[in-house]
Amino acid sequence: MKGLQLLATGGALPGRVVTNEDLRRQVDTSDEWITTRTGIRQRYYCAENEDAATLAIAAARQALARSGLTAADIACCVVATLSSPTATPSVACRVQAALGLPENRPALDVNAACSGFIYAAATAHGLLTTLGGRYALVIGCEALSRMMDPTDRTTCVLFGDGAGAAIFELAENTPFVVTLGARGSEAIRAGGPAACDTAPITMDGKAVFRFAVEAMPRCLQTVLDRSQKTQADLDWVVCHQANSRIIDHCIKHLHAEPPKFYKNMNRHGNTSAASIPIALHEMEESGLLRPGQTLACIGFGGGLTWGGMLLTYEGRK
Ligand code: ACO
Repeated sequence: MKGLQLLATGGALPGRVVTNEDLRRQVDTSDEWITTRTGIRQRYYCAENEDAATLAIAAARQALARSGLTAADIACCVVATLSSPTATPSVACRVQAALGLPENRPALDVNAACSGFIYAAATAHGLLTTLGGRYALVIGCEALSRMMDPTDRTTCVLFGDGAGAAIFELAENTPFVVTLGARGSEAIRAGGPAACDTAPITMDGKAVFRFAVEAMPRCLQTVLDRSQKTQADLDWVVCHQANSRIIDHCIKHLHAEPPKFYKNMNRHGNTSAASIPIALHEMEESGLLRPGQTLACIGFGGGLTWGGMLLTYEGRK
């Protein structure tokens, strides 16, 4: 079976940096509490003229330029987000228009919260396989600052905004394994009772923590088992960047090598569906990703949902 390999990435961060010190002036919290519980030191918030779609478009433009491909090469556009500025048009349709992607190709949004990028990549793999086509544009983007109660210290210190984009190629003899799952739960909730309601994010942090430290190692082990690989075969593990302690639990549980687990929540906070592609983009930019490397990406989050995938980084065409 043909699998996805990563060719190029792009990223976009909004202009406003919000430090823990800034939040200390807003709610009853401290830099010490936030850093020791989460590893987060700052996050980015959208300015008035920015949203999840403007970030997605900027990230997608960069990924396409870096890939060496043209808009006409892109066979599908799948966007993972839970904070689209409008229910319709979707962010994916906005990206299609902005980049001039061909109209006879699918463009759609996927909402699987923080697991969204894995779900979106799996969807792109399915679309390329079903409809034909070689290259997919997959984006994770969020403007979570628009969905938070700025007076709720249990959530407002955690989340940030941003976007990451990836160009994937469907290629022969490429190791590609995906695992996805869902368990309906109100442990993380945003919006409601009507879908268009803008009720802010609420979360049972402890329950989500317990779920995460069980789901992440399980997903990584499933991906390794299904691909008949061991941890030694992995060059990188790119986890959803919710909380440094959750990743540390995963490393401990699996007796894994910490340097293989990329972390950047200190700079971004939890950017939900954007966190994995933002990490991939940073890793590509800083030269950490090298052609031929094998990566496992692991996400978990609202829904509840989880997902993992194993893929190779190929680099630009
Ligand atoms: N500053 C200071 N004190 C705080 C803050 C804050 N920002 N927030 C909570 N507290 C207080 C609590 O009120 C509590 O006080 P009390 O003991 O007097 O009642 C105390 O700190 C401890 O609170 P806990 O909730 O027990 O803190 P915990 O150690 O569990 O850490 C955290 C909270 C960081 C949220 C953790 O539970 C966590 O990371 N959970 C997972 C979250 C996650 O990964 N979400 C990802 C999915 S999100 C998505 O999909 C959109």
